[in-house]
Amino acid sequence: MTSVIPAPPASDPSGLSADDLARLRADTPGCVRTHHLNNAGSALPPQVVVDTMIEHLRREAEIGGYEAHAEAQERLDATYASVGRLVGAPASSIALTTSATDSWLRGFLSIPLVAGDRILVSQAEYASNVLALLAATRRVGATLEAVPDDASGVLDVEALRSMLDERVQVVAVTHAPSQNGLLNPVAEVGATVRALAPQAWYVVDACQSVGQVPVDAVAIGADFLSATGRKFLRGPRGTGFLYASDRALTLEPALIDLHAATWTSESTYDVAEGGTRFENWEKSYAAMLGMGAAADYALDLGLDVIAARIGWLADRIRLLLMEIPGVVVRDRGGHRTGIVTFSVEGREAADVVRAIKDAGVNVSYSPREYAVRDFDAHGVTGLVRASPHIYTDDNDLTALETAVRTA
Ligand SMILES: Cc1ncc(COP(=O)(O)O)c(C=O)c1O
Repeated sequence: MTSVIPAPPASDPSGLSADDLARLRADTPGCVRTHHLNNAGSALPPQVVVDTMIEHLRREAEIGGYEAHAEAQERLDATYASVGRLVGAPASSIALTTSATDSWLRGFLSIPLVAGDRILVSQAEYASNVLALLAATRRVGATLEAVPDDASGVLDVEALRSMLDERVQVVAVTHAPSQNGLLNPVAEVGATVRALAPQAWYVVDACQSVGQVPVDAVAIGADFLSATGRKFLRGPRGTGFLYASDRALTLEPALIDLHAATWTSESTYDVAEGGTRFENWEKSYAAMLGMGAAADYALDLGLDVIAARIGWLADRIRLLLMEIPGVVVRDRGGHRTGIVTFSVEGREAADVVRAIKDAGVNVSYSPREYAVRDFDAHGVTGLVRASPHIYTDDNDLTALETAVRTA
């Protein structure tokens, strides 16, 4: 199932001028050397992110790690605020973590589950989340059911409505899946869960949407919303964050330490009030500051502007791919993201990816194991994924087209 791709406008709808694009590319030294269309894997960071991290590492070496941490405390506090602004939430609702999965697990594992509880999950959910959900079915005897997709290929809210009851304890949905350019209707899901199963905890994986489209965790109605730093946000590897709603901030964290709580007497402790209850003490402060710089960079550009350019570039890629004999674009849904997925008839996706990379274009390979349910439902065993970002230019698109034609 693929969607009809309307012809994208002839000129960039983001409002960015040629000078703006030149400045964005100058901010991104990596794009001089590579045609980087793997932003859904790990984006090229802007120079300010790299400088911020290196500067902090230098200070750690010069004055000591704890001392550099104390010196940077105000900027670290500002990181929570910046990351919060990215998802429309206060700094106090944010936990800084090491990855999207780390964030997601910290939220999910804190939800109390007993035998017989029902867990509902989106069909396109990411493997690591599903593995943790399957582990919960083994560990506590909860049941796991997938919400089917609708005719357009995104989560079917009507089907969800019919599945919700008082035994549903968790609803887990991936906003922008790793292996398809679709965007799930997370706000509609949130409103439906609130109305029909108010006891359920709503866990949203926003790993691929944060940094590429506006995301509002409060409007979505998420209890937990997880994200990573290195993808469309353009932060460093080894970073991520978790948003927790006021209700989620009443949960006892599963992974507790002396940062998440204070030991008050031999047998008592007080859990931290805000998002820090879902953190652990030790972190790479250089990386956290780098993620803060990436959040500020994205907020300064404007998420609407970023989304408009990425969406335009992605639709142009879909159209140029559809012109190539044997190429099948696999993206579904009416509202597509900057993730373009395709296959080439008669070819293994892994081989196509290798050939495109050999031609100097960074794309990535999505194997069935990343989303078994989704791949099997569509009879696909592997996909090629191309993901542009705001700094992608026409030369990158031409290089991709030539690489696919000759792959
Ligand atoms: C939708 C989605 N969720 C979660 C993850 C896991 O992210 P991380 O590697 O930061 O844990 C990915 C990674 O590709 C992803 O695409």
